[in-house]
Amino acid sequence: MTDNNKPLGDSKAIVTNQPGIHEKLAEIVQKHLTHPSKKPFQAHTLEAFELANSRVLAHQGEVILDSCCGVGQSTRLLAKQNPQALVIGVDKSAHRIERNDEELTATTNTHGIDNFMLVRADLNDFYRLVKQAKWPVSQHYILYPNPWPKAKHIQRRWHGSAVFPEIIAIGKEIVLRSNWRLYLEEFQFSAEISGRSGIISQVKDNQPLTPFEAKYQLSGQVCWQLTIK
Ligand SMILES: C[S@@+](CC[C@H](N)C(=O)[O-])C[C@H]1O[C@@H](n2cnc3c(N)ncnc32)[C@H](O)[C@@H]1O
Repeated sequence: MTDNNKPLGDSKAIVTNQPGIHEKLAEIVQKHLTHPSKKPFQAHTLEAFELANSRVLAHQGEVILDSCCGVGQSTRLLAKQNPQALVIGVDKSAHRIERNDEELTATTNTHGIDNFMLVRADLNDFYRLVKQAKWPVSQHYILYPNPWPKAKHIQRRWHGSAVFPEIIAIGKEIVLRSNWRLYLEEFQFSAEISGRSGIISQVKDNQPLTPFEAKYQLSGQVCWQLTIK
């Protein structure tokens, strides 16, 4: 079962009223690139950032950022695969972040792995703080972000959001996955406007990196990856 109690393998493909890349996307990205967000930071995200920042400063090395980490399955797996790095998983949902640690450690076989940290924070603020603090992010993962497939919700997608200039500036490599290819095409298009290029490929991993990936694969859907170097 997933955490919203739907059986695995029962996931519907994305339905959208968009025939292609959103017609206003270039304009939206340009506007955000030229007018940085000045929104005040929320207190809870500032506090969470301070805690994560002290761990990053103590680590003095490579950081991997796992944005929208959900229950933190990918955070644990990335920590195991990259023992030299500190992996920081961020999600705004306390319910997901606080999911049973023992169960996840068992399913991901990550006993004794402790080079990771899960943080409850709103990425609209957290990204700006990471950029300001110049974290040495080698890899920046965004795995299966909420798609917001209706055209009118374009600004809720990460590439349509005010924080996109910070998102695209974080990480030597950015890895974005989705079961909706158009989301990746739009992100790739927005990245190019910001001076970064990437390629889209099909995810062929044997072990799903996240619960959403597992759910889509079991439903026979193709999972896509955008890699920006
Ligand atoms: C579709 S889920 C994917 C979770 C996980 N990556 C996976 O693949 O199983 C999207 C996640 O993004 C998180 N999210 C959405 N907006 C966010 C924001 N502004 N700040 C932090 N997390 C956010 C949600 O809480 C949710 O856990």
